[in-house]
Amino acid sequence: MTAQKTSIIEWVDIGVAGLEDFIPGIPKGDAILVRGEPGTGKTIVCLQFLYKGAKNGEKCLYITTEETPESIMRTGGELWSDFPQLVSNGMIKLVNMSISAEYANDYGLLEKAEAMTIAEKGFATQPGATRIVIDSLSSLDQRLSNSDEFREVFMKLLLETKQQGSTVLLTAEGIPLTPDITEYLVDHLVYLDYRKQDTEWTRVFILRKSRSVPLKPQILKLYIEKGGLSVEETPFALNPVWFQSKI
Ligand SMILES: Nc1ncnc2c1ncn2[C@@H]1O[C@H](COP(=O)(O)OP(=O)(O)OP(=O)(O)O)[C@@H](O)[C@H]1O
Ligand SMILES: [Mg+2]
Repeated sequence: MTAQKTSIIEWVDIGVAGLEDFIPGIPKGDAILVRGEPGTGKTIVCLQFLYKGAKNGEKCLYITTEETPESIMRTGGELWSDFPQLVSNGMIKLVNMSISAEYANDYGLLEKAEAMTIAEKGFATQPGATRIVIDSLSSLDQRLSNSDEFREVFMKLLLETKQQGSTVLLTAEGIPLTPDITEYLVDHLVYLDYRKQDTEWTRVFILRKSRSVPLKPQILKLYIEKGGLSVEETPFALNPVWFQSKI
């Protein structure tokens, strides 16, 4: 059963197969934050989001603050054989804000103005991008020479992508016990985590908040396989793997 679509909202399919059974999509132009521990699938959700857009003929932009563009390309190429072609034909542009890029500071630390200049140059390489990824906010935060400035950089990036009308997907490390500003300011919040049944571990996808979207909160089982991501309902109860997990 596919979720009901209303006529006033223009829905964006983020590309996760099976999600259409639970929500009609994400309203176009909204900001989505994907949070989770290392290795839970945040970067692959970003790649899937852009891959889906590029295959639809949309211009896409990936700002990487953590992995190098080479590593992003390698993962994308492993998942979809035509991913490199979507990059070479310009449907997906990669902007390097990882430690492998050149900065004024020898140690790769960034001033807020430099961070914004790189991001803006990135936006200019893909004018009219309808899908933008910033992966990850946590690395950006850690690499700012003055981490008090993170809030300003985050808000400016959010505002600029909103003004462009782009749907933006951001990632951040971990699931904090107390929600922070990033979780309140975005329109949609996804948690990725591990759960277990007996001794078997599974990846889970939790749509935690979704503005304007009829949402029945539930834990979905997440699969990462060649060809992309998919979710399905869990027919059994799953226990948290990490005791300190808030979900
Ligand atoms: N081609 C592939 N096929 C199947 N699974 C894969 C493939 N590539 C990666 N994975 C799995 O997907 C997992 C999630 O990777 P991903 O890079 O998205 O995690 P992440 O949440 O971004 O981690 P980090 O916090 O370290 O950035 C990897 O740990 C790996 O097990
Ligand atoms: Mg990642």
